[in-house]
Amino acid sequence: MSSTSPATLKAAVIGIGWAGQQHVKAYQAMPGVELVAIAEPNATLLDQVQKEYGIPKGYSDFQDMLKVEKPDLVSVGTPNFAHAEPAIAALDSGAHVLVEKPLARTYLEGKSMVDAAIRNDRVLQVTFNQRYRQDVQTVKRFVDEGRMGEIYHAKSRWLRRDGIPGRGRKWFVSKELAGGGPLIDLGVHMLDMALYIMGEPVVEAVSGAAYNRLGQRFVTEIYGEDAVYEVEDFASSFIRLAGGRTLQLEASWATYRENGDLINMTIFGENAGAELTSKNYQTQGAVRFYVDAAGVPSEIIPEIPAGASSRPGHLIVAEQFVERVRSGAYDQFRGQEGLLRTWIIDAIYRSAAEGREIRLSELKE
Ligand SMILES: NC(=O)c1ccc[n+]([C@@H]2O[C@H](COP(=O)([O-])OP(=O)(O)OC[C@H]3O[C@@H](n4cnc5c(N)ncnc54)[C@H](O)[C@@H]3O)[C@@H](O)[C@H]2O)c1
Repeated sequence: MSSTSPATLKAAVIGIGWAGQQHVKAYQAMPGVELVAIAEPNATLLDQVQKEYGIPKGYSDFQDMLKVEKPDLVSVGTPNFAHAEPAIAALDSGAHVLVEKPLARTYLEGKSMVDAAIRNDRVLQVTFNQRYRQDVQTVKRFVDEGRMGEIYHAKSRWLRRDGIPGRGRKWFVSKELAGGGPLIDLGVHMLDMALYIMGEPVVEAVSGAAYNRLGQRFVTEIYGEDAVYEVEDFASSFIRLAGGRTLQLEASWATYRENGDLINMTIFGENAGAELTSKNYQTQGAVRFYVDAAGVPSEIIPEIPAGASSRPGHLIVAEQFVERVRSGAYDQFRGQEGLLRTWIIDAIYRSAAEGREIRLSELKE
């Protein structure tokens, strides 16, 4: 698209709940992009968001929107079960697509989306905004400076004591509609951060356990007596990487532990270690590096300036998406990164169900 890319790219957002509105704000903040339309089946929400952000057109049906507006860029912020259909329709209409995480519920569903990006020669990108947190970026820079040597093991986890998504979003606790619980919701971010920091290692096999012990107690408070909690409330997994490297991944929406959200990574390298511990999204003081200095074990506490994380991750991701679209070099950006993360999570769920280690290659069948 580089030679034919219009000076102003027309953008649209499908699904305008919390996530979709982050894409709305990002496109409106970007020069060279005009947000022309949104599509959302909830008429009240459609009207409210259209007015609040002054968006020219609103559609109840995304297919009508694609036909009439012919956008260059489409963000998909629908629930997980409704990522593939609008994303593939948008790619087939000629648009480039930025889809919310996770790419899809399963490897095969995600693969159909990547195939559509290849078929149409378009960009498909997944919104991994959490990797742009300033604490994560600090660790990434330390690794990229070569200070850690080879990273041979990492542990990455996001734990909540009592954090099942609420506010009318019952689809989150349906296995069919969401594809899973905290592992596919929060764990996908932690998996993304770990693979990103480790330099995209080759993933060979996974072993996982998924528990549903507490969710039902919480879910009736949120959605009423007849609500059924179908997904895991806690998942734990062990991921084998090429070259004998390993990664542990965990996520919970409900566990008996300290209240609030814990984002935590432990990284062991041959020359240094790193620990990221963020309580309730705080980035200041969240990172520690462990090194040998003057012949003794030493600790470095990087100063992450206050407010450094205030630039929204969604804006950074959307800017990167537009840059990729304008670059005209799409081959690396067909959703492969998002597909790998979905593939690993699908394999962890299968491992948990079957009680055995699963090689990623088994899911291709
Ligand atoms: N990256 C992040 O930080 C982040 C944060 C929250 C949610 N998410 C992801 O964003 C997605 C949406 O999550 P949410 O919390 O905003 O959910 P939500 O339920 O609040 O919003 C989803 C919206 O999509 C609409 N919708 C459903 N089917 C549709 C269709 N076919 N066409 C158009 N609109 C449709 C719904 O009416 C709803 O308004 C999920 O995939 C979730 O994992 C990402």
